Formats: sequence, C-alpha cells, structure tokens
Amino acid sequence: MALDFKYVADKDISALETSCAVFFSSSLEEEFTHINAKWAHVAHSAQRESRFSRKVGSSFLINLWGEDTKVKNVLIVPLGENKEEQTHHDYHKAITEAWKKLAELRIEDAVFILPSDDCVWMVRQIVLVGEHVLYNYNDMRSKISDDHTSTFSKAWLFVSKQGPKTDSLDGVLKESMSIAAGISLTKDLGNAPANICTPYYLSLRAKALSSEMGMTANTISLEQAKEMGMGAFAAVSQGSKEPACLIEISYKNSPNKNDSPYVLVGKGVTFDSGGISIKPSACMDEMKFDMCGAAAVLGVMKAVALLKLPINVVGIIPATENMPGGCATRPGDIVKTMSGQTVEILNTDAEGRLILCDALTYVERFSPKVVVDIATLTGACVVALGNEAAAIYTRPEDYSIRNDIVSAGEKTLDRAWPMPLWEEYQEQLKSKFADFANIGTRWGGSVTAACFLSRFTRNYKWAHLDIAGVAWVSGQGTAEATGRPVAMLSQWLISQSNVVS
Ligand code: BES
Ligand code: MN
Ligand code: ZN
Repeated sequence: MALDFKYVADKDISALETSCAVFFSSSLEEEFTHINAKWAHVAHSAQRESRFSRKVGSSFLINLWGEDTKVKNVLIVPLGENKEEQTHHDYHKAITEAWKKLAELRIEDAVFILPSDDCVWMVRQIVLVGEHVLYNYNDMRSKISDDHTSTFSKAWLFVSKQGPKTDSLDGVLKESMSIAAGISLTKDLGNAPANICTPYYLSLRAKALSSEMGMTANTISLEQAKEMGMGAFAAVSQGSKEPACLIEISYKNSPNKNDSPYVLVGKGVTFDSGGISIKPSACMDEMKFDMCGAAAVLGVMKAVALLKLPINVVGIIPATENMPGGCATRPGDIVKTMSGQTVEILNTDAEGRLILCDALTYVERFSPKVVVDIATLTGACVVALGNEAAAIYTRPEDYSIRNDIVSAGEKTLDRAWPMPLWEEYQEQLKSKFADFANIGTRWGGSVTAACFLSRFTRNYKWAHLDIAGVAWVSGQGTAEATGRPVAMLSQWLISQSNVVS
C-alpha cells in the first residue's frame, strides 16, 4: 500500500481538515504557541493534569472537540526535554510511536508538524517508518480482517516558516517514497512461502517488474548455466525438483548508454533445508527468507527505476532451492566452478557461496563499475552483529566504496558495519582434495564465507553484504521480512548518481 504524502507550507494549521495533527515536541508551550496560539491552553491543561509523559517513545492524544479548529485531534510525541541531548535514535523512536498510535487508533489521515531543524532527515524517516509500520502481507489469506489492514492513507507534512522551502524537500520526499515502494516489493517477495516463491516465480516477478518499469529481464536456464560451466550453482540445485535459473534484469538510463553498470548480485535460495547437511527443524520455516538478497536486488532496481536515476544497473539472481534427496550433492563432493577453480563441498548447507561464486564469475562480462553482492549468507554474521547491521566486506583498495555504502546506511538507518577480509582468514579454506573447501572452521564464519567469495571477484571492484541478521526478524509465528538493505543500497545509488562520472 502506497501512502500519499503532501507538503503544506506555513499557514493556519487549524484550517486544515484532518483527523490528527502529529506534534513532535521538546517544549510544549513554546512550540504550541508558535504553531497556533489557540491550542496553547490545550497543551497547558494536558500538562497541568500531568496525564502527559515526556518520555521518548510515548505519545498522548488530545481531542480538540469544541475548539475553533478543523483539526480533530492532536497527537503529542515527546522528543525529550533537552534539545541538545536529542539523537536520531530518539527521533526514530518517536516517529515509530506516532505511526503505531495512528494505526492503533485507525486514523485515516494526519498532518505531521515538522521541527524546523533536521527536516530532511525527519521527512525521510516519517515516510520509511510509516510504510514499515503500516505494512501487511495478506496475499495468502482467504479473508482479510481489520487486524490485517491499516486504514491510514494520507499524510500532510507541515513545514513552518523557519524550516526549509517545500520545493527543496520535494526531492527527499520523492526519494523516500520510491525507496519505500522498493522495500515493499522486497518484503512481499521475502514473506511469500517457498511453495509459491520458487526460482521460476522469482523469474516471473523479475519479468513483471521489468515490463512495469521499462527494464529488460532475461532468464538463463539451468541447462544453459551448466553449459557455461556453473558447476557449483548446478550442484546446489541438483537435489531439488524445482528448476533452478539465473535471472538477469537490466536498467539502462545513463546518458552514456555504454557506461559501465553497477551490478547487484542477490542470493536467491528460495528454501534452504541445508541439503544432506540438513538443518535442525526448529525455525526451519524461516529458511524461506534465504532469497532476501534476491528480493533486495529487485527492490533496489524498482526504486532506481522509479527515480529514473541516470545510471546503468544490472541485477543478477542465481535462484534455486537447497534440498536433500537421492540426487542431492553429498558432503565431500568436488565440483568445478565457472572460474575453473575446484571446490570441495564439505558442508552442503554452505550453499549460498556456491551459487554466488558462479554468478560472480558470470558478471565479469558486464565490465562492472562496482559489483555488490547481497546474501543471507551465514548464521555467524547474526552472532557477530545481531539484527542491527549487515556485515560489509571489501578489499582495502575498495574501502572508499565501503565508506560510501556505510554512510548511505547511516543516512537511512539501514546500516552496515565493516568486517575484515584479511589473508590470515583465507587459510581456513584449505582442502586436501580440491583447490579449496566451501567451509572454514567454527570461528569467524561470516569472514571465511566472504573470503570464499573474494576468490571469484578479483577482476573488478567488489563489496559483499552479509544480510543474514537484517533481512528478516525471526520469531515463531511472527517472523517477517524487513525489506533491508533496500534503503541503504538505493540511497547509495542515489548518491552515486549525484557524483559526476
Ligand atoms: N542461509 C544460511 C545462513 C543463515 C542461517 C541465515 C541462519 C540466517 C539464519 C546459510 O546457507 C547457511 O546455512 N550457512 C551455514 C554455513 C556453515 C555450514 C559454514 C551457517 O551459517 O550455519
Ligand atoms: Mn545453508
Ligand atoms: Zn542459505
């Protein structure tokens, strides 16, 4: 569901016909008086009655019934008393609370009164958090009840005289709404069950997206992939009845048509049972999310296309299931990758790197500007960073790319954090029988997975994102896709587009 956002410039706010004015407040009287003298006494009485908590993350609704205004309610959302101590974390908490309260009260429209500083940041977060809080996945229900839908549809953003001009905010609003649309697609694909969201289904969705957005899409069959030498990718798919495929989607809008593209490679394991090295059954349902890297590629491409960014982008998705069975790869099997290097598959559950390595060799043909791969690659990454940050890996010569991506993450609060890719870790991948193995020791599992990939990415600039901890929130019966890292990567490509190339 796409929300409708519009700016209103500084005018008499009480003349706005709206169900609720959302007011982020540090100092009630002062700011209330500034916005509308008529309401100051409402704030005063609320405060006097001490019904009103000043805690960040709380909110308080005041009904304006009987007041001389078209605004029906005011939602007061405290930001903390001391302006100097307010952090982006506080702002984020306050915005989340505001949206949760609006949703809970089933309010349909509201005006957000923006503070005069940090307006741009505020607008971005109001849009992204709003789309997040109001998101529902209902594609699989036979009946949709009120609990599963939100009523909210229209938000005004009120900018006071002290704030920036609304035309300068238009850019950030458009960016955020496009990013939100990308996130929503990524969530839908991630949340879809593995019996629906198969490799073939992903290829159809990629095609649908490309015709909707004026991009081109192409599917390479497993047979063609094998002919190209993708032995590792084929090995992962061989235990599954669902045909694997390699999805290619291309967006061309650089003023220079032959401009080298940004290439995004997304892990598309539509279900990861572990294969013969089978996973424990607890929470195995969550392995339907093992294609969230692929879903993020499509989400970013949607955002980029909606924004008509003047760049070229190619998305590559190796899509397959990882299943056990009579045809499945055995631990100890040795396969030849497209690069010519041989790999001993000591654990069939380390399948992500096996499909990515061939995709990463395949993308050399695009002479990429930069390749970024996005993968729910290791449980070890979740141990290292929890659910707050994706791990980002680059070689030292690409640290500037890493910095750009990390700051795009900081800007959108969809964060990544740098991890090492030192030679010392490469030792762990030694194999007695092949060029190297697909797993290391128990320690530093996210790093050794990245080391494995680095052996296939020597011919271009490359960053690897392990999104195992951020792509979805787990929980028995409550697990759901987050749409990360679409915001971070879209913001990165936006900033790249603003750099003259
Ligand atoms: N898809 C998993 C990684 C994963 C596990 C993501 C749990 C999120 C939550 C990946 O294919 C995998 O199974 N990795 C193994 C690698 C190991 C066998 C070296 C892992 O992390 O256990
Ligand atoms: Mn696995
Ligand atoms: Zn996996």
